[in-house]
Amino acid sequence: MTNKHHTNLPEGMPQLRVMPMPADANVHGDVFGGWIMAQVDIAGALPAVRRANGRVATIAVNSFLFKQPVFVGDLLSFYANVVKVGNTSITVNVEVYAERNRLQAETVKVTEATLTYVATDEDRKPRQLPPLSVLCAEDPAADAGQGDEKTGIVL
Ligand SMILES: CC(C)(COP(=O)(O)OP(=O)(O)OC[C@H]1O[C@@H](n2cnc3c(N)ncnc32)[C@H](O)[C@@H]1OP(=O)(O)O)[C@@H](O)C(=O)NCCC(=O)NCCS
Repeated sequence: MTNKHHTNLPEGMPQLRVMPMPADANVHGDVFGGWIMAQVDIAGALPAVRRANGRVATIAVNSFLFKQPVFVGDLLSFYANVVKVGNTSITVNVEVYAERNRLQAETVKVTEATLTYVATDEDRKPRQLPPLSVLCAEDPAADAGQGDEKTGIVL
């Protein structure tokens, strides 16, 4: 493989897979950063909603790195994992991989971001996160990847 950025997709299932279309790109065929940010926000919200057991709102984009360009026709995979939880907040790391020139199996990590979501109630006010034990009683799979909530560090 000649591309020094070539890598493999991470283990496990992505939260989201999507292919940008011509309407998502500038005249040079590079996909707009804002379009990528919107997809990252959606992908990151999926594990946050699961952990919150309900609605969330994005409160912060803590970091966002566009490391490589994205092109029309790339197949993008979004991997999102909870990395920290607080009283009402959930911080999620999102990594985006592009499969381009798919017949040559070229995969490139294009974007990495960290976002924080807040669990909200029906009045859009912050809501205490449910204890993990409650979630696990409802859905044993909810424990996967949640780590140590006492330290707030989730592996
Ligand atoms: C989300 C919202 C309800 C939170 O209300 P708020 O009164 O600002 O919340 P608080 O100050 O009590 O903070 C709530 C949590 O967010 C965290 N937080 C606040 N500012 C933060 C920041 N800049 N970065 C990371 N986390 C932050 C707090 O630490 C707290 O976490 P914790 O409870 O786990 O300790 C409110 O800010 C809001 O409605 N924002 C607009 C959301 C929006 O429209 N997003 C875009 C579309 S989804």
